[in-house]
Amino acid sequence: MRTTSAAIPVASRVAGFNYAIRNIVAEARKVEAGGRRVRYLNIGDPISFGFRTPPHLVEAVERAVRDGYNGYVPSPGIPEAREAVAGELTGRGMPVSADRVLITSGTSEGIELTLTALAENGDEVLIPTPTYPLYTAVLAKVGARAVFYRTNPARGWLPDVDHLRSLITRTTRALVVIDPNNPTGANYPADVRRALIELADQHNIPLLADEVYGDLAYDGPVPPMASLYPDAPIISFSSLSKAYLAPGWRAGWMAVGRTERLDDVLVAIKKLADGRLCSPGPMQYAIAPALTGDRSHEDAFRAALGERAGITTRRLNAIDGITTVAPTAAFYAMPQVALPAGVTDEEYVLGLLRATGVLCVFGSGFGTDPREGFFRVVFLANPEELSEIFDLVAGFTGEFLARH
Ligand SMILES: Cc1ncc(COP(=O)(O)O)c(C=O)c1O
Repeated sequence: MRTTSAAIPVASRVAGFNYAIRNIVAEARKVEAGGRRVRYLNIGDPISFGFRTPPHLVEAVERAVRDGYNGYVPSPGIPEAREAVAGELTGRGMPVSADRVLITSGTSEGIELTLTALAENGDEVLIPTPTYPLYTAVLAKVGARAVFYRTNPARGWLPDVDHLRSLITRTTRALVVIDPNNPTGANYPADVRRALIELADQHNIPLLADEVYGDLAYDGPVPPMASLYPDAPIISFSSLSKAYLAPGWRAGWMAVGRTERLDDVLVAIKKLADGRLCSPGPMQYAIAPALTGDRSHEDAFRAALGERAGITTRRLNAIDGITTVAPTAAFYAMPQVALPAGVTDEEYVLGLLRATGVLCVFGSGFGTDPREGFFRVVFLANPEELSEIFDLVAGFTGEFLARH
């Protein structure tokens, strides 16, 4: 047999696939290897901060595994989970039947299936900036182009609808709306949501509504976008990951709006879903108990998040050189540090990590300009730890800005 040391080539599409939230962990590991404790504020996983999955959901999965429900399940999901999702969305104003619901491996798989079904090579998809990076990563894989519409920190991170309108072309295949938003923690008012839906409807562009934080606005659950106009071409995505505290289960769902304009898209998505056989079976047995059972954990979680958001906003805005918009949902804030000319957000974030062990993600990982100095903070840590973290951020920032 002939041996060679030549490297095996990888496909060029991988070069466009970036996921800063995980990529930055390599830097954190180096800091840990040097003996410093790292506080991982890079990933939105409530479990790693001590929150616990509701016991009745754990029992549902345990029971399914023990009772032998360990085979493949139908590729669009088990009927009781699909019906529970349809019932939940219908009850909240998005009338949809179970045959238009698919159970997916998290919101992530639903998004990937949908973008794969909608966009040809070279097509355009409208994405907010800053964005959750899965969208740009999947589009790189599909070969479609992410076209960014601005959301504006001076207006509470609301989308700039005029800018968005100006970006629509004949090759626009989808409009992504993340509301409530990661990374900004914003929740859009009804008039803004209506303007986005009208744009999608008039141009016959499917609106992909990422509603994974829909239950986590501090004032209470947010209605699905499609409740404002159930006949618009809207596809809604969510999961057990955030509000039900089970991100590792990869249990999610998507619901294709009732308009017949989306019928072919639904068929295409189901066809693609057949190819991956099914999403994990036992976890699907927790979906109906989650949506139809006790939800008291959500009240406690929302209250905890509201308190942490308040601490985060107060402490960050008290640091010279940092300003932040108060989040109204989820567990993220997107502060801005006034960087001196020539310095990037990545330099600031890596400096903070190396000096203090606090790991955030630089804004350019979510598509903002590196010179603007945005970075994302996950504020799931308990109030005492958050206070220590912001002491570290304050100390480092003062020193960093004085040095540059
Ligand atoms: C906006 C947004 N969409 C989707 C996801 C992925 O969620 P899931 O675990 O349901 O795949 C996340 C995870 O952080 C997110 O923030």
